[in-house]
Amino acid sequence: MNTPEIIRKKRDGKELTTEELRYLIEGYSKGEIPDYQLSAWAMAVYYQGMTARETADLTMAMVESGDQVDLSAIPGVKVDKHSTGGVGDTTTLVLAPLVAAVGVPVAKMSGRGLGHTGGTIDKLESIPGFSTEIPNKKFLELVQKSGIAVMGQTANLTPADKQLYGLRDVTGTVESIPLIASSIMSKKIAAGSDAIVLDVKTGDGAFMKEEADAVRLAEAMVAIGHQVGRKTVAIISDMSQPLGYAIGNAMEIREAIDTLRGEGPEDLTDLCTALGTEMLLLAGKYETRQEATQALQQVIENGAALEKMEEFVSGQGGDIATITDPGKLPQPKEKVVIHSDKAGYIQRIHAEEIGLCAMRLGAGRATKADQIDFAVGVELHRKVGDAVEVGTPLATLYVNSEKNLPEVEKRLIAAMEIGEQSVQAPMLIRGIVTPEGFHQYK
Ligand code: URA
Ligand code: CA
Repeated sequence: MNTPEIIRKKRDGKELTTEELRYLIEGYSKGEIPDYQLSAWAMAVYYQGMTARETADLTMAMVESGDQVDLSAIPGVKVDKHSTGGVGDTTTLVLAPLVAAVGVPVAKMSGRGLGHTGGTIDKLESIPGFSTEIPNKKFLELVQKSGIAVMGQTANLTPADKQLYGLRDVTGTVESIPLIASSIMSKKIAAGSDAIVLDVKTGDGAFMKEEADAVRLAEAMVAIGHQVGRKTVAIISDMSQPLGYAIGNAMEIREAIDTLRGEGPEDLTDLCTALGTEMLLLAGKYETRQEATQALQQVIENGAALEKMEEFVSGQGGDIATITDPGKLPQPKEKVVIHSDKAGYIQRIHAEEIGLCAMRLGAGRATKADQIDFAVGVELHRKVGDAVEVGTPLATLYVNSEKNLPEVEKRLIAAMEIGEQSVQAPMLIRGIVTPEGFHQYK
């Protein structure tokens, strides 16, 4: 094979063969094909796109570049969930125990946060003692015994994707739907589950700001799943404002506990119920949405979901006293309430800015090397559509260092736009993408 010829073929809008794609990815991960050739190819893909078949082939070439998790020791259909990243997105922390409590095993690999988005692994580590760096064997034992375990991504999962993503980041080729879809799906497929429920976010705080782009990304990922024999569906959900009220690591653990008790924010509860319902359907546990949803509501009402959270936390070495008394989670030195200086209605809450405010307080990383402060973050008191008076508390900042406080106070008040017009809260669930396409969710 000849690399310049493959690049020209894609540049001219032709379809590459399975062998050509495998040759590129294998050669690149072995260091035989240099960065400049792969970046020329990535730019050609950016302009010319890829067919569903090419996208699936690229995905599998990246899956095969590293280790693949073998979950076959766990009986039944293993369903994974992936969210495309958001602000205050506490869904995994609720969903994992919720679905496990209904009897569907959850064996999940999660990531850390970067920039304005938080990561599940960081949130879990805010529970004193909780370890996500567990050996593979222990991970499988926990899933067999309790039906639930969450671990950090192993080092050798899809190394070709890591390399290519790094290259795209510096060559203006991140923003390509087939490249994003294959990047995300390669990690999910290598993580070993049989079926995948995706939560593709849209809006200000999301990777895909426009709904139409979120739908196109979801369609590409669902198509990959089906091409490679992993049932996949995607829910398109709103990330124009943060999810729930809490944005911060320990704060979101507390919000997850509240939600598992049935006392969580409505949007977080509704989204977890929808995603959980799709997980139970893909696992083959129920035939209809209604039955699956009822099963989830039941484990919240009878306390089984909260008990599963305790079992999960104790299994991974965490202090379960934090579940009954979330006051035992890391607490900030100071809480600063931000009051409204206007009367009216909340028009918008810029999710990305709120995420950056939490990061500036220490809840997230600006660079990979930064340390996280588990106790700090932003607690919202109002969401889009709510009425406020002058002096109404809009948010509380959980603070350990005053360093960035004046800046964060200013940015936070600007991020919560207040106007005279009454407005409707944004629709949380915009629809669902199945292999048949995009439909309304009901
Ligand atoms: N997230 C990923 O994992 N890969 C991309 O290409 C973009 C976002
Ligand atoms: Ca939240």
